[in-house]
Amino acid sequence: MGIYAKYIFPHLLDWALGKPELGKYRQRALEPAYGKVLEIGFGTGLNLPYYPAAVQRLMAIDSEHLLQKKLAQRIKAAPLPVEFVQLDASGSLPFADAEFDCIVTTWTLCSIAEVLPALAEMRRLLKPTRRYIFFEHGRSDDTTTARWQDRLNPVQKVIGVGCHINRPIANLISAAGFAIDTLDRFVLPKTPRLFGEMYRGTARRL
Ligand SMILES: C[S@@+](CC[C@H](N)C(=O)[O-])C[C@H]1O[C@@H](n2cnc3c(N)ncnc32)[C@H](O)[C@@H]1O
Repeated sequence: MGIYAKYIFPHLLDWALGKPELGKYRQRALEPAYGKVLEIGFGTGLNLPYYPAAVQRLMAIDSEHLLQKKLAQRIKAAPLPVEFVQLDASGSLPFADAEFDCIVTTWTLCSIAEVLPALAEMRRLLKPTRRYIFFEHGRSDDTTTARWQDRLNPVQKVIGVGCHINRPIANLISAAGFAIDTLDRFVLPKTPRLFGEMYRGTARRL
């Protein structure tokens, strides 16, 4: 990992995704969470204040261990028991089949290089009838915007350390064997459409 990705990008990420105005979106996305939850792509732990009381335990994984001191402080201050483990979600994860009541990803499917294997692994880990909760940015339904997303994606992958702006999130989730129960599509206010095409929803194993 280069100097930018290791020392600069994590701070940019924490700043950009930790803006207070995003809190209400995180809270809304996490409302359906309950029981034993696995969060994938935990990043700097920005979801922690927004988990509802119905969540009993959070297992959090990320392929990186970003802003380690800050992350440890956030985990300590969290209102629920949290265990963080550094793991690559596109490999085989050390959890049992159907171990979790909910799986959560926020702004994460954009960044996982091998996203379909990761979604397949999430499907394995989720209890039947329980919820995969997602809040992701991705491909626009507007063809002109989508064309620009395709053009600029190679640049964004460098600036955003692997982040894709053109992934068809709902299609990917369906292709991995989930049935989408709820899906809200909207553009985040004050955000360029290229980056702010949001997919918020819940899905179940087919
Ligand atoms: C844009 S950040 C979002 C962080 C966090 N989910 C949030 O909402 O603030 C994407 C995160 O996904 C993680 N990530 C990327 N590829 C991954 C993989 N293969 N397995 C697990 N985490 C991954 C990155 O390290 C990063 O922390």
